[in-house]
Amino acid sequence: MNDNNFYNIPSEICVKINKWLLKFPHGEKKPAIIFALHQIQKENKYIKTIHIDSVARLLDVKKIDVYEVAAFYSMFELEKIGKHTISVCTNVSCMLNGSDEILSYLEKKLNIKVGKSSDKFFLKDERECLAACAGAPMMQVNHKYYENLTKDKIDKIIRDIEDEK
Ligand code: FES
Repeated sequence: MNDNNFYNIPSEICVKINKWLLKFPHGEKKPAIIFALHQIQKENKYIKTIHIDSVARLLDVKKIDVYEVAAFYSMFELEKIGKHTISVCTNVSCMLNGSDEILSYLEKKLNIKVGKSSDKFFLKDERECLAACAGAPMMQVNHKYYENLTKDKIDKIIRDIEDEK
């Protein structure tokens, strides 16, 4: 990043985006917006306005087209978040197996409310089934699945993260 008004998309990301564009009919750039945002979020942890502007410039699409995608999909974060993202599924199977209690326990343990962040943790507000219903209640930590959760399991997961260097 050069300054607050301009983001230079790293060349290795540009290469990946250009390779991705080859999957689509000539001239079709919009299908690459999600892919580009994913790559940039991986690099920067969350999407800023300057990232949106840079993707629009690179793909030669309108800024609003990129912004709409970034704002619509819950996998894109538009604010600074903690280093580790925790998503507790609260959909039907998980709810019936105690996800509300799991979520409350995590909120107290991490001292953050769902949807909020500390420097270390982001407790994401998850509304959709995370596709591991047989292991309900479950959560993802940095996209890794943890199933059949109990408070003891959560204690160990959090302890392991906190012990990481
Ligand atoms: S309802 Fe939680 S994983 Fe499906």
